[in-house]
Amino acid sequence: MNKTAIITGITGQDGSYLAELLLEKDYKVVGLYRRSSSYHFERISSIVDHPNLTLLEFDLTDPSVILSILKQYEPDEFYNLAAMSHVGTSFHQPSTTFDINTMGVLHILEGIRTTSSATKYYQASTSEMFGKNYSVDKNNNKYQDENTPLIPQSPYAVSKVASHNLVRIYRYAYNIFATSGILFNHESPRRGENFLTRKVTKYIGQLVNNKTSDNLKLGNLQAYRDWGHAKDYVYAMYLMLQQDVPDDFVICTGQTHSVLNFVIKSFESVDLDYKQYVEIDPSLYRPAEVDYLCGRSLKAQKVLGWIPSTSFDDLVSEMIQSDIKVYANV
Ligand code: NAP
Ligand code: GDD
Repeated sequence: MNKTAIITGITGQDGSYLAELLLEKDYKVVGLYRRSSSYHFERISSIVDHPNLTLLEFDLTDPSVILSILKQYEPDEFYNLAAMSHVGTSFHQPSTTFDINTMGVLHILEGIRTTSSATKYYQASTSEMFGKNYSVDKNNNKYQDENTPLIPQSPYAVSKVASHNLVRIYRYAYNIFATSGILFNHESPRRGENFLTRKVTKYIGQLVNNKTSDNLKLGNLQAYRDWGHAKDYVYAMYLMLQQDVPDDFVICTGQTHSVLNFVIKSFESVDLDYKQYVEIDPSLYRPAEVDYLCGRSLKAQKVLGWIPSTSFDDLVSEMIQSDIKVYANV
């Protein structure tokens, strides 16, 4: 019998890769998307007509539609990837951020508890929850893992900490299989255009094809991020729901690079000097920043057998080459 999985946020970066993965594994996938006044299925264009994919309109802020979909499908697995996922935006829209990222999660957990208690639930938790905090090993290396206390630094991060804790409580109080993946930054050619990596690679794609003469405006270049590939990370989500016991898992590469390093590498890969093109725009600085993220995924390696397969250099190169191709044809 095919398993059935519901994916919220199927039009997003991770949702599109996860849907492809589960369809390859013969799942019946129910992809939930929110209404839009224009076509927004670009990321799922290769699977949109797949016979095992059903697309349904919903909104994470509306509990009634979530409940009725859960009742109808009683899925084996539920991957909740929908979110207001931009940290900078969460400072301008804190209330919307909580409605979607926290109340939305509560609606799903309540739906599972009351109508579909055998469903395995995946929550998209985030390294952003560590905020200012890190652990230090005996060699003075700074890192974050499942035991590092959370000190969130943005409305986005606080909304995700709240839902992370809801998942933990529903797991223990109601015996629901609810797992949180604490994923560090992951990117791809499908990354949204207002996240740092894609903003840079999109600009280079335009520049190389003579489609822009503007400077690239960026904010803080001093923060460090542990960047992996989204395709590797959705595989970890799948593995988490194949376990017998729900738990929390950090997913990361274990290597960290500054934002500046990402920018330098990207421009160097097309033989350009970033200093001639990048301009600092103070309005892009965040009111509070997460300065340093570098994960340790020993638990995921041991329990899930998961390791990342894409290096930082390969990630940069894939994103640059993809955007050069995209903007050659625009
Ligand atoms: P993304 O590309 O921004 O996708 C977010 C998805 O959520 C989109 O499909 C979006 O729909 C949908 N959505 C937003 N608000 C909604 C609402 N009210 N109702 C229904 N759908 C809604 O994000 P991503 O990078 O794939 O990330 C997936 C999840 O992982 C998110 O929860 C994010 O917070 C979390 N996460 C991401 C990373 C990362 O580095 N990528 C790391 C850790 C955790 P539209 O297409 O209509 O906008
Ligand atoms: N977006 C953006 N735009 N970020 C910039 C810019 C800019 O113009 N200039 C500098 N930055 C810096 C940000 O201040 C941050 O330190 C870093 O680049 C990365 O920013 P983002 O790419 O927006 O990612 P993020 O780390 O804030 O959040 C992403 O990763 C989280 C996991 O740690 C998002 O995908 C979140 O949804 C996810 O939870």
